[in-house]
Amino acid sequence: MSTQSKPGMLEQMGQAIKSSQIWRSIFRHGYPDTPLNQSLIMMGNVFLHLHPVKVSRQAMRVTYTWCLGGISFFLFLVLTITGVFLMFYYIPADATAYSNIQALQSAVAFGEIVRNMHRWAAHLMVISVSLHMIRVFYHGAYKPPREFNWVVGVTLFLLTLLLSFTGYLLPWDQIGVLAIQVGSNMANYAPVVGDAVHRVLIGGIDQYPTQNTLIRFYTLHVLFLPLIAAVLMAVHFWRIRKDGGAAGPPPPSRLEAAEPEPQPRELVTSR
Ligand code: HEM
Repeated sequence: MSTQSKPGMLEQMGQAIKSSQIWRSIFRHGYPDTPLNQSLIMMGNVFLHLHPVKVSRQAMRVTYTWCLGGISFFLFLVLTITGVFLMFYYIPADATAYSNIQALQSAVAFGEIVRNMHRWAAHLMVISVSLHMIRVFYHGAYKPPREFNWVVGVTLFLLTLLLSFTGYLLPWDQIGVLAIQVGSNMANYAPVVGDAVHRVLIGGIDQYPTQNTLIRFYTLHVLFLPLIAAVLMAVHFWRIRKDGGAAGPPPPSRLEAAEPEPQPRELVTSR
């Protein structure tokens, strides 16, 4: 008598699904039981392939990166969505901008919460990007092969600050107008290019913000800067993958070896 039991109904159904053409057209590779199969699965899946095939186990820990880059990206998405909603009501005209914002807060459904979400997310993004930069520096992840991504990161940091700066003028309230007046006058003190930068920011020869400044800051804030930031973020993420994911600490074997020169902190070989 055979000791092998017949497959149950559920098992049979599972096998039928897995051998169907639909299943096999989506999942090309079997169970990830070998390193080759694991690599093929990573590369054949649109979501998994955003990560490198091999990553350092320690660099995957939440307490290593604190997900600060991910939080910054999440806040950027919140800012984009809430910003688009604000654009439905806000008109960048010096005569109406202030009352637009007041009406948005008091008369538009969910206007106050959307505006506050936009403002808070902006403050938080400055904090999270700064902390992310400090974390990367602390772990020495700016060293080769990640030096290019560090430069992309510095540009993203400056763009984050510029987005905050340009957004501050838009409510056209006293604190915003005066802050931009002070900020753009500071540009005057830069050697050689100071006067030109001031003119570009203010949009003329005036010493204080005018309608020209408002439309300029508005265009920079809603279109120009976010577009550059989005493209640079795509480059940043692509580059993280190409550099082998987040840089982990060196393996113990390397720490033990008394090297006269510090070695690259690289565990990952896949590109
Ligand atoms: C809009 C701003 C930014 C976003 C959305 C962003 C996003 C990310 C994400 C998701 C990661 C993966 C690991 C992690 O979460 O820590 C990362 C890694 C990295 N980021 Fe950023 N980042 C931004 C700004 C910056 C800045 C300001 C710098 C430095 C000046 C920087 C330099 C790097 C480097 C070098 C890595 C690789 C880190 C490693 O290998 O450990 N990024 N970034």
